[in-house]
Amino acid sequence: MCGIVGYIGKQPAVPVLMDGLEKLSYRGYDSAGIAVMEEHHHINVRKAKGKLENLRSLLVKSPVAGCMGIGHTRWATHGEPNDLNAHPHTDVQGGIAVVHNGIIENHEALRRYLTAQGAVFVSQTDTEVIAHLLKYLYCGDMKETLLKALPMLEGSYALGVICDAESDALYCARNDSPLVVAWEDGNGYLASDIPALLAHTRDVIFLEDKQIARLDANGIAVCDAYGNPCYHEPFHVEWDLDCAEKGGYAHYMLKEIHEQPEALQKTYAPRRPHLPGEYRWLPVSLSEAQSLRKISIVACGSAYHAGVVGKYAIERLARLPVEVDIASEYRYRDPVIGPQELFVAISQSGETADTLAALREAKRRGARVLVICNVVGSTMTREAGESNTLYTYAGPEIAVASTKAYMTQTEMMLMLAIALGDLRGTLSRSRVEELLKGLEQLPVLAEKTLQAEEMLQRFASLASQKKHVFFVGRGMDYALSMEAALKLKEVSYIFSEAYAAGELKHGPIALLKPGRLVVATITQSGLLEKTLSNLREVTARGASVLAICRESLAQKLEGIAQQIIAIPDTDDWLAPLLAVIPLQLFAYSMAVVRGCDVDKPRNLAKSVTVE
Ligand code: F6R
Repeated sequence: MCGIVGYIGKQPAVPVLMDGLEKLSYRGYDSAGIAVMEEHHHINVRKAKGKLENLRSLLVKSPVAGCMGIGHTRWATHGEPNDLNAHPHTDVQGGIAVVHNGIIENHEALRRYLTAQGAVFVSQTDTEVIAHLLKYLYCGDMKETLLKALPMLEGSYALGVICDAESDALYCARNDSPLVVAWEDGNGYLASDIPALLAHTRDVIFLEDKQIARLDANGIAVCDAYGNPCYHEPFHVEWDLDCAEKGGYAHYMLKEIHEQPEALQKTYAPRRPHLPGEYRWLPVSLSEAQSLRKISIVACGSAYHAGVVGKYAIERLARLPVEVDIASEYRYRDPVIGPQELFVAISQSGETADTLAALREAKRRGARVLVICNVVGSTMTREAGESNTLYTYAGPEIAVASTKAYMTQTEMMLMLAIALGDLRGTLSRSRVEELLKGLEQLPVLAEKTLQAEEMLQRFASLASQKKHVFFVGRGMDYALSMEAALKLKEVSYIFSEAYAAGELKHGPIALLKPGRLVVATITQSGLLEKTLSNLREVTARGASVLAICRESLAQKLEGIAQQIIAIPDTDDWLAPLLAVIPLQLFAYSMAVVRGCDVDKPRNLAKSVTVE
């Protein structure tokens, strides 16, 4: 999704802006641009469709210089990706330049109004109205102008603004779209995401909704929607740039797959109970846990699939009904939320617009909320409050396709199921101990599971021309199959679909014929025989099977599967956390063999901040 950077200070702005945009490029974009305040208070804009390389070449041919500017990577929403629609946008005279993330919902009405006042629009974007509106309302002070203009904007925005009449200040504002600012050694920075700032500082300020910030040589001044000054304690970012670099791996996705043993350990270790029944990390008291009647889990994409694993685990281990909803459906389906219910939002970024809206909807209806999130200080964590947030400590996830974040979300789901099962007395003490021991051993087993990489590379080179792939499983393996199908389709562009293995014969089996590939996950020992029967139905139609199964079950697959990938034996409930690794490696290897842009798949964005 779009990325914003801004700089004011003592250094040439262009390298700072370009470096920041590069750091944000993992979010996905289709054009980019910068606006720089040159000498004599003149704003120069350069923008180019496509990769940042195109903008770089343009800047070589047609350089700009100055010590203040704003930059943007655009992921098209209103208007096709082209040079005209790329940001920054300016007013007619080019005296005000704006970069924007989000969507201005009333842009058509504003466009009509401003056109009647003489504005001439050159792009199809919603953003351009902001530049013309600021010009129309400009009163000699951009902060005052923003205070008047922002209430007229409906929708979401993170804005960076420069203005030729105030060449000593950089402005920004946010509503429902993340924005961080920082000031270090006389240099001011703004960005939509922390990685863009880490080369310069680790101390950042998260702006709140409806706040405006002015950055100049004296520092940062933040005010609320009424102009009242606000103070923010800077947040110290613990991780550094190395965590967000490729570290010798061919792609971020592969690096992040390999980081999963460590991520599993980091997420579990701080929550390991020191005394039986002690779950200090869980923001649910013993009496609350015992009186809970229902849990609603809401998320999007991979995070939703982690929620589906959570449903299986919580229902079985804690004997609590669980509903799992796709966030964009939840918020519009008039959900029933009652007392003694817990609403759980899962999100890597903590910024996903649909999940955030669902969280707000649940809060509005008085629900008790819990957020499971990877990004410290993100909007969801702030809205739920730190005491209602459980962080997955996966570290920065740069590849668009989620791997280690999904892994730790799923681990969090299992930890929640075990803790609730213990507190509600639906699990015996010895069973709890067994499961906790299993969690403890997972990182080592995950490391061992990664050894399947070469075998999957070889298999992928044989299977790379497949046009359709089916993923099947039962129980938690079905939840896992959904995630595996999503991973394959998003990075390799192969059409893939997940089915509950028992559902194949109710329709999808009509698609099976020689040449088709079915990837089966078999980790649930109690469901083995049933799944084997389903796989025999598959091979009887001439389709081939890639089986991901536990070591102890591998023998049973011989003669059925063309290729068997065995994962180390562990508890049934924890096995999906290992089985997902070969499925991720399979998707990754298929994408590499097919020459796809693994880390930045087409049309996708890392953090989806629009509905
Ligand atoms: C898939 C993927 C997406 C995200 C989804 C939710 O690999 O990454 O499906 O899982 O967009 O994002 P978050 O977790 O940031 O809310």
